[in-house]
Order: sequence, then C-alpha cells, then structure tokens
Amino acid sequence: MHRSATQYTATQYTATAKSLHWTMAVLIIALLAIGTSMVFLPKGDLRGEIVDLHKQLGVAVLALAVIRLAWRAAKGAPALPAATPALERLAAQAGHAGLYLLMFAMPLSGLVMSQAGGHPVHLLGLTLPDLVAKNHDLHELTEGMHEVLAWATGVLVGLHAAAALRHHLVLKDDVLRRMLPQDSR
Ligand code: HEM
Ligand code: HEM
Repeated sequence: MHRSATQYTATQYTATAKSLHWTMAVLIIALLAIGTSMVFLPKGDLRGEIVDLHKQLGVAVLALAVIRLAWRAAKGAPALPAATPALERLAAQAGHAGLYLLMFAMPLSGLVMSQAGGHPVHLLGLTLPDLVAKNHDLHELTEGMHEVLAWATGVLVGLHAAAALRHHLVLKDDVLRRMLPQDSR
C-alpha cells in the first residue's frame, strides 16, 4: 500500500518517542525493583535515602509522562501490520492505553501517599508544593493503591515485553524493530 511521505509515523516511531520509551522503561522497571526491595529495609537513614531516591525518580516519570502523552497526541504511532487480527489490535491498543494510564497513576498515587502522610516530595533539590493536606485515611488509601497499581504495572509490562518478543521471534515482523534505538530508517 502506498503511503505519502508526509505520513512519517506510518512505519516507525520518532527518535523522541524511542528515547522517551526506553528512558521511561528503564526508570519504571528500576522503580518497581527499588520499591519492592526498599520496604523490607529497617527504618533508618539508608531506607530514608533510598525512599527519597525512589520518590524523585517517580516524579521524573510523571514529568516525562506529560511530555510523552503530548508527543503521542501530536505525532501518533505507526500502524500495526495489516495482517494483525482485530482482537490482537484491540489487545495492543488496550495494553498501551493501560500503560499510559499507569505512567500517571503510579507516580500520582505515590505523590499523594507521601504528602497525605506528611512527608515532603522533592525533585532536584526543590520541595514540590502540596497537592493534598496531611490526611491519615487518604494516606492509607493511596498506599494500598500504589501497591496494587505496582502489581498491575509489573504484570502489564511483562505481557507487553512478551508481546514485543512474539512479534520479533515468532511473527518476524517490524513491530519490535521500529521501537529500537539503532533502527534509523
Ligand atoms: C512509576 C512510578 C513508580 C513506581 C513504578 C513505584 C513503585 C513502587 C513499588 C513497587 C513500591 C513497593 C510497594 C509495596 O510493596 O508496598 C513502592 C513503594 C513506595 N513508593 Fe513508589 N513507585 C513510583 C512512584 C512513586 C512516587 C512518585 C512516590 C512519591 C513521591 C512514591 C513513593 C513511594 C513510597 C513512599 C513507598 C513506600 C510505601 C510503604 O512504605 O509501604 N512512589 N513504589
Ligand atoms: C523490556 C521491556 C519493553 C519492551 C521490549 C517494549 C517494547 C515495545 C515495542 C516494540 C513497542 C512498539 C509497539 C508497536 O509499534 O505497536 C512499544 C510501545 C509501547 N511501550 Fe513498550 N516495551 C518495554 C517496556 C515498556 C514499559 C516499561 C512501558 C511503560 C510502562 C512501555 C510502554 C509502552 C507504550 C505505552 C507503548 C505504545 C507507544 C505508542 O504507540 O504511543 N513499554 N514497546
């Protein structure tokens, strides 16, 4: 099928989309690992510093998610191979929408959990303004949400990575390649 040259996003992701995807993938997977392990540390300076690092990296994810969603809205994404069955198309769209949602819900639940617990949130040495006042019930609620959402993120990212590998190894199409940094077609 002929595509006009102006449909730049028809066959590949832009360099910006790729940079954002892989930077955020590394950050989110690191945050899942840091988050699940830090809660087992004894209360003290080390735990405090690691939790603070977790919070700062998490806020960075939120900032990048805003940029990424705006970029996606402006530039779109390449179409799936024409032979993709309707159900798989739907699964890919729903999965990607879920991942976008989690890129916001994860950091926001963490931010509200911290501030409702009376703990300040920093980014690059600055203290972020409070979105919510200290509130025990809200702290407990968002703490539970943060944990459930973290599980959902782990499961969805696992399925997502498995789907990408299936495209590459089983279906042998371009779907993984067009998200890879070195592919500069
Ligand atoms: C994509 C972003 C994030 C991911 C993937 C993530 C992931 C996690 C995970 C897996 C845990 C362990 C949950 C548990 O087993 O109890 C956790 C805990 C925690 N997260 Fe995040 N997090 C993110 C962002 C944030 C942000 C932005 C903040 C605050 C500004 C934050 C604050 C916390 C705190 C305070 C805990 C400890 C909760 C406790 O002691 O039970 N997180 N996070
Ligand atoms: C090792 C892990 C990962 C692999 C192998 C991977 C691979 C890919 C590939 C190949 C695509 C392009 C799909 C297509 O063209 O239709 C893609 C898109 C996407 N990935 Fe990942 N990814 C990984 C991790 C993540 C993580 C951690 C997130 C965020 C939580 C994420 C979120 C997304 C989203 C939202 C899209 C859709 C982009 C768009 O069309 O706007 N990925 N990923």
